[in-house]
Amino acid sequence: MKVVSIVGARPQFIKAAVVSRALRQRHQEVLLHTGQHYDDLMSDVFFRELGIPLPDVNLGVGSASHARQTAEMLVGIEQVLVQERPDWVLIYGDTNSTLAGALAAAKLGMPLAHVEAGLRSFNRSMPEEINRVVADRLSDLLFCPTRTAVENLAREGITAGVHWVGDVMYDALLASLPIAQQGSNILKRLGLEPAGYLLATVHRAGNTDIRENLAAILEGLSATGETVILPLHPRTRRAMAGWGIAAGENVRLLEPVGYLDMLILEQNARLILTDSGGVQKEAYWLGVPCITLREETEWVETVAAGWNLLVGTSAERIVEAVRTFRPQGERPACFGDGDAGEKIVQILESSVDRKLHV
Ligand code: UD1
Ligand code: UDP
Repeated sequence: MKVVSIVGARPQFIKAAVVSRALRQRHQEVLLHTGQHYDDLMSDVFFRELGIPLPDVNLGVGSASHARQTAEMLVGIEQVLVQERPDWVLIYGDTNSTLAGALAAAKLGMPLAHVEAGLRSFNRSMPEEINRVVADRLSDLLFCPTRTAVENLAREGITAGVHWVGDVMYDALLASLPIAQQGSNILKRLGLEPAGYLLATVHRAGNTDIRENLAAILEGLSATGETVILPLHPRTRRAMAGWGIAAGENVRLLEPVGYLDMLILEQNARLILTDSGGVQKEAYWLGVPCITLREETEWVETVAAGWNLLVGTSAERIVEAVRTFRPQGERPACFGDGDAGEKIVQILESSVDRKLHV
């Protein structure tokens, strides 16, 4: 079986590492990097740390408007797919790289499989929501991380090819946490004590592209008075600089950190504040309270369990939540058993002869 895997953004490298490891044990994988993320700390570091084989192709698309970025990806991906004629095209998550991969494969009539299918925020102002809806509609196999994702698809009339496999990011965390605990010295480097700081990340378009939202988040983080570690996505750094938004002295701005350091920062934080999908789940798996800087989430199980609190971008709500949020209940295991990657490969294998197109 030959699979072309399409990745381009930070969380996709982590997801693909899991599937790639299982896939390459007995199959051929062509790894296509669109180049959506390109800084060393947004891309290469994940390949190094997770032992992901170097991409066979890097389209080097880089940053641009949604239309231009997606269009350039489409042209490059089509060329590779025509040349490689894979049995499966594998796409991950909800970025513009996911959308371009889905469109290119579907237009060529090639079998398409989507990892992390069925997630919905029900907020169409998010670019990710549009990417998800299109990718799911076009996919022949849909690998869902949660039962809620399966239900979301059923409500849209999508039931064929849907498989609940668990979350590949949970597989990734289980595999990498022991390595991080052995190898990372980030706490020492930053002079941090376990539970002696808050960890924050901000990068969603709705939070970085609207000045009042970004300013309110920084105001809230600054007003907590606690040490806040904030590894900055380049998008956020640019927005803060452009608008002259400053952070209080308690907020320590860092470059993006590698995955292993990130896991250690998460595990030892007193509390996490984030608008990231992946970070919300990692907080849950690590048993660290999470305050989500959005009004809704795709990862509703973490909220239902009481470990994730949605506060949006109000500075007052952020400060109040940091002061009072102390979840203690169970954290039900609703993200699988840590074998999602293996399950995905088995389903791809067993479906390869029954493929719908080509
Ligand atoms: C993208 C995804 C988002 C995902 C996130 C993961 C889309 C529409 N969004 O958002 O779903 O959660 O990745 O991190 O696909 N930049 C750099 N260096 C880089 C990459 C980006 O400086 O290596 C800067 C550029 O100014 C760029 C901006 O960040 O314009 C945004 O990058 P882009 O890839 O368009 O979107 P993300 O915000 O990273
Ligand atoms: N992450 C990281 N370094 C950082 C910030 C995030 O390694 O400085 C990891 C994080 O642990 C998670 C993934 O990147 O595994 C999440 O990516 P991101 O927040 O960029 O995207 P999202 O999950 O929201 O799509």
